[in-house]
Amino acid sequence: MPHLVAPSLLSANFLNLEKDIAMLNQSEADWFHLDVMDGVFVPNISFGFPIIEKIRKATHKILDVHLMIVEPERYLERFKKAGADIISIHLEASRNPVDTLRTIKKLQAKAGIVINPGTPVNLLTDVIREVDMVLLMSVNPGFGGQSFIPGTIKKIEEVKDMIRTFQLDVMLEVDGGIDLQNAPSLVHAGVDILVAGNTIFASTDPSLTIHQLKSIC
Ligand code: DX5
Ligand code: ZN
Repeated sequence: MPHLVAPSLLSANFLNLEKDIAMLNQSEADWFHLDVMDGVFVPNISFGFPIIEKIRKATHKILDVHLMIVEPERYLERFKKAGADIISIHLEASRNPVDTLRTIKKLQAKAGIVINPGTPVNLLTDVIREVDMVLLMSVNPGFGGQSFIPGTIKKIEEVKDMIRTFQLDVMLEVDGGIDLQNAPSLVHAGVDILVAGNTIFASTDPSLTIHQLKSIC
């Protein structure tokens, strides 16, 4: 499967979201990556249901919702109702990740598990059979525009090994600090989905940047 590009709307212009969404709709972007932060799991607060509902009405593309919230199990149904196609929860944030991931799938959404840069890949062993996607954070979550943590490359290889060993059909997404310089090494390492916020929205030509990220081979 050729890799996908998922722009993170955290770096979009919230005073004129319609314009950025129209740009994304016309671009080669595959998914919309939506970062939900609660100010507890991460030291920042972003947006919630009303914004996701509005975005759902403005695009047919897949909504990839990244929950940086504690006790995500409390809100799964509402995120699904708001329009999420994929719901990813942090391993560090859920008391019973296996149950939470099963609930996401029961709601007919795809289920993703996310780990922070400081969380070792081997902790995924107990949950990876439950998921459609693993999301590796390549920055500490909370803010857009941070620098990519190089140690992520080794973790990508470890996740790919785990997927191969267990013979699973699991996608691998990487999120944080991705730019046109480091993206080729991620694609070559087998990453299926590149998330990019700042690189796309701070660009003078965001849809060209999306095209460039998509054209990596
Ligand atoms: C970080 C978020 C990311 C972030 C990516 O907490 O999960 O999705 O917005 O933004 P960049 O690409 O700017 O690092
Ligand atoms: Zn994210």
